[in-house]
Amino acid sequence: MLRRMIPARSYRLLLNRNHGTPGMVVLPEGGFRRARAEITSWPDYRPTPLVSLPDVAAAARVAAVYYKDEGSRFGLGSFKALGGAYAVKHLLVAELSRRGLAPAAIAEAMASGSGPRLTVCCATDGNHGRSVAWGAQRFHAGCVIFVHETVSQGRRDAIAAYGAEIRVVPGNYDDAVRAAQATAEKAGWFVVSDTSYPGYTEVPRDVMQGYRVMADEALAALPTPPTHCFIQGGVGGVAAAVASQLRAHGGGTKLVVAEPDKAACLLASCEASAPTTIEGDLDTLMAGLACGEPSLLAWQELERSAFAFMAVPDASAVDCMRLLAQRQPKVVAGESAVAGLAALLLAAQEPFARAALGLDETSQVLLFGTEGATDPELYAKLTA
Ligand SMILES: Cc1ncc(COP(=O)(O)O)c(C=O)c1O
Repeated sequence: MLRRMIPARSYRLLLNRNHGTPGMVVLPEGGFRRARAEITSWPDYRPTPLVSLPDVAAAARVAAVYYKDEGSRFGLGSFKALGGAYAVKHLLVAELSRRGLAPAAIAEAMASGSGPRLTVCCATDGNHGRSVAWGAQRFHAGCVIFVHETVSQGRRDAIAAYGAEIRVVPGNYDDAVRAAQATAEKAGWFVVSDTSYPGYTEVPRDVMQGYRVMADEALAALPTPPTHCFIQGGVGGVAAAVASQLRAHGGGTKLVVAEPDKAACLLASCEASAPTTIEGDLDTLMAGLACGEPSLLAWQELERSAFAFMAVPDASAVDCMRLLAQRQPKVVAGESAVAGLAALLLAAQEPFARAALGLDETSQVLLFGTEGATDPELYAKLTA
């Protein structure tokens, strides 16, 4: 008999008809090896825990559920610490090299700030900006972070704590992306974006290569690759990074990308078989996933490697935050960390979705808890 862990709620599920078709290499292995070597050499690097959730597995009637808990990543609270900060370092090194500095002088500039002062900037709904600001502080660059109006004061303060200037722009995340780009062009700053678009792919590729470290750690800790992986989608960067890493570990895992139903641009892109923009204020509680435009690179990967896309309601994210907060031992998951868990539980509870995704009593499911309580006030309110 099915034991419901979260209430049944309406959601959308779309199987990807192009799943498995060949495509271009979006994240080459050499770039990943370079990112892994750099990130794992940072003094405070530690792999994050991979937690087994047997109670969730029992409720979902699958063999096992593993949850990679990114709440402790570099003290920044989310997996995004891997991408932005690494891309900042790579960009600064490349720029100093282009300006003719010798490798020893570049290493010295990175360690002590002795080089010319460069400024990086980006748009963010919280976590990416924190990573870029942290990287800029660590590698001695100036930093300006663009946020849209609904990014909470708590998240703005957390970014400013790394010495970045915060600029607030009207509109949504995609408007902030455009403002960052336009301002950088005028001011001669360097954009470190987590989303890619035609003509701007190099930096976001590095960001995604950094994210792969998270998936690499998870897969290294499992005896066999999982049968299923559910991962949150914002612009699709992390889902594409996970997809690349699953393939590098042998493939065969069904990847399900879970988005908020108010910002499901990846599901819409799958429906249209082309990158598709969702308009409007993208008013979802899952702030990190409130993106209306897919990243070009991410889409090029996901259009063939995602098995399915799901759009889940905000209420199911709150259900999952509470479920993890109340279990023993407790898992602290922020609003944008649990769309994958919500998608798993909603699908597993329903015979049609269960069959469509091939979920059964032998399934081994990998989830990525992509953030902890990155906005502690909101976390306390939602889990009270
Ligand atoms: C906690 C969290 N999870 C997932 C995502 C989604 O990542 P992407 O935009 O690369 O799809 C984000 C993006 O900011 C995030 O902050």
